[in-house]
Amino acid sequence: MKNIFILIATTITLFSCKKDLNNTGTEYANEMYHSEAYEPLSQIVDEKNADYNSNPNNPYKMNMRKPVTNTLKISKFNFNFGNSGVVIPATYHIDKDSFQLSGRTLKNPLKLKSTFLSDSVALLEQGKVLYTNFCKHCHGENGQGDGEVGKIYKGVPSYSKGSVKMDTEGHIWHTITFGRNRMWSHASQINPEDRWKIVLYVQTLQNQE
Ligand code: HEC
Repeated sequence: MKNIFILIATTITLFSCKKDLNNTGTEYANEMYHSEAYEPLSQIVDEKNADYNSNPNNPYKMNMRKPVTNTLKISKFNFNFGNSGVVIPATYHIDKDSFQLSGRTLKNPLKLKSTFLSDSVALLEQGKVLYTNFCKHCHGENGQGDGEVGKIYKGVPSYSKGSVKMDTEGHIWHTITFGRNRMWSHASQINPEDRWKIVLYVQTLQNQE
């Protein structure tokens, strides 16, 4: 019985091959290769092709629009805060494993900028909004590791207990940027300046009783 299955499988495999090197052969699960949705990074422009996939609403029927003029690649981006002279290189050229180095050396440039109390309050409020969008579902409203996702994900620490309470601002920034163990990096979602705003807010959660 087993042999029959092997024979059938081999026959199907062989017959699905084609001589033409550019031909992918018979596709059994078509929609896994060519999704119904517009594919941003690949598109089939030949209208006769059964998998024709091009967006009629865009110029030249492109599936992905070109980035707007003057768009900067994130790694080339320097954050300069008004006239403060504070510049944050997008990456501090610190290795992802160098938690201790970041913890010791990176200082929050936003603190230097916010000489007025109203500035600090505004930054903290923005930090809270960002925290709510990006961290709360795991870390919980009060940073106790009890967010809706955190409860299922497990292993999410409380900010105000144990070693995490002692995490410096540089260490928190590094964690958001590169992730740590089971926590993923958030570098692609949150720009460096916004990460520092979140750090300000996480610090208030570290210092709660
Ligand atoms: C998918 C769930 C998840 C999300 C979203 C998440 N975290 Fe975490 N976080 C974790 C887990 C799990 C750990 C424990 C990592 C470990 O095992 O060391 C952790 C650990 C941490 C730590 C402690 C690092 C240390 O020193 O041990 C900090 C600080 C932290 N997260 C901040 C954040 C911030 C800020 C955000 C939002 C930008 C965020 N996390 C988003 C799951 C998450």
